[in-house]
Amino acid sequence: MRIFRLFKIILTFKRYGLFQILTINDKTSRFAGILAFALWFIPQKHKDKSLPVRVKLAFEHLGPVFVKFGQLLSTRPDLIPSNYIAELAHLQSKVRPFDTKLSKQIIENSINKPINEVFSEFIDTPVASASIAQVHRARLAINNHEVAVKVLRPGIAKIIDKDIKVLKLAALVVEKLFSDGKRLRPQEVIDEFETTIHEELDFLQEAANSTELARLHKNDKRIIIPDVYYDYTTKDVIVMEWMNGITISDIPALKAQGIDLEKLSHYGVEIFYTQVFHFGFFHADMHPGNILCSNDGRYIALDFGIVGCLSDEDKRYLAINILAFFNRDYKKVAITHVESGWAPKDTPIEQFENAIRAVCEPIFNKPLAQISFAQVLIKLFQVSRRFGIVVQPQLILLQKTIVNVEGMGRILNPELDLWKTAKPILNKWLREQMGVKGFVRNLKSELPHWSYVLPTIPRNFATALTKLQETSDLNQNYNKLVRDYRRMSGLLAVMVIVLTIILVIKL
Ligand SMILES: Nc1ncnc2c1ncn2[C@@H]1O[C@H](COP(=O)(O)OP(=O)(O)O)[C@@H](O)[C@H]1O
Ligand SMILES: [Mg+2]
Repeated sequence: MRIFRLFKIILTFKRYGLFQILTINDKTSRFAGILAFALWFIPQKHKDKSLPVRVKLAFEHLGPVFVKFGQLLSTRPDLIPSNYIAELAHLQSKVRPFDTKLSKQIIENSINKPINEVFSEFIDTPVASASIAQVHRARLAINNHEVAVKVLRPGIAKIIDKDIKVLKLAALVVEKLFSDGKRLRPQEVIDEFETTIHEELDFLQEAANSTELARLHKNDKRIIIPDVYYDYTTKDVIVMEWMNGITISDIPALKAQGIDLEKLSHYGVEIFYTQVFHFGFFHADMHPGNILCSNDGRYIALDFGIVGCLSDEDKRYLAINILAFFNRDYKKVAITHVESGWAPKDTPIEQFENAIRAVCEPIFNKPLAQISFAQVLIKLFQVSRRFGIVVQPQLILLQKTIVNVEGMGRILNPELDLWKTAKPILNKWLREQMGVKGFVRNLKSELPHWSYVLPTIPRNFATALTKLQETSDLNQNYNKLVRDYRRMSGLLAVMVIVLTIILVIKL
């Protein structure tokens, strides 16, 4: 079966004249020549259109996986030329909605109740039909609340698996045939794509992501996140609160409603940086299709199939880079990379520092309002890779999302100053992290752990000592351990005092 799919993809490439992409070096041109010769009988379509446009059309023709993959590539200016980025960003699924009968059957099977019992009203024509799911508008029988019912497209997991296998094969070919195939990191890109697209297939995960973000934003008046009705939510179906709003890409409709676009753009950027720096948990699919604006100008977030998680270490990495960028202290960035183990121990610091300077200085020469966080990150990651640093997937996801957020912000408000919007959020976070408050908070958060571990230390030491005593030839180690134990007791005493003080403050 996979071979048929592969054949269909090759035919589509021929039909849309995409073998031209392969004419990069002698080896690849020969390969393209042989393929073209073997498929001479397939006529080419859209001869008058440019190559990036033809790539876009071919991806649309190849279906949901390619559309999603193209959308992902459009957020990787570090890998793909800008003329392709512009086209791929406009990729849209042209999948037909699936039969509503089938939709209802899936809902009944997964909720285990007849549709009429659960919903007092169910609108057959779907409000949206995308590559992975279809959304219906309905009303719950139990409370008359209006809901959106998102149903997983039947058979989608199989389609995805098949296409991912083909993409993996293509990645291998690209790496072997192109001289700078490795630089494009095709295998890495496909692996990441596979992870995110699989995550999107589990609606229970999506529902949990949505609830977690709603909890984190609980007192935030800028954003609305739909409630999930867990009684009717399964792996294949999500039932959630219906959101009335205008899609964020419909500028004329937003203007007609009298929405303050400048404010909305600030909300978007602020929400994103709050999620990144304060929560370490961010909505990683912030494209305009997933964002609405409520009638009173608030930001409505939808579709939490992809989220990113950042550890404190990741946040520190970002903060150091951003701060060092402000201070033009590139040596600090280089040294921290090595000290923290991100870069190999033998990284030539001066060369690394120079390379970072070379990417950052030109950006700094622009007015601040025009500086893009995405560009800074992309360039830094490029340098990192050159020096053997593997950029973590969650940071790549962050890069992708920043590209989305900046794009969205600037559509709403071309004057948007990204630094100005982000700086207060960053400063607040840094104050919290690096000041005394942060120190005390971190200590407090470690308290439960220490209250459990501390009392067991003396017993563990005593057990270890007895064991050592039993083996006479370990006398030397024994003496050393006794010395360490004495030193340790001093440390333990200090820790106990500190913990007591914290406990007193806490109580
Ligand atoms: N809670 C909701 N209220 C109103 N419309 C919704 C809701 N959830 C989804 N939609 C509509 O359905 C579309 C697709 O839903 P989404 O969750 O983004 O699915 P997909 O993963 O297929 O992109 C959205 O762009 C929006 O128009
Ligand atoms: Mg969506």
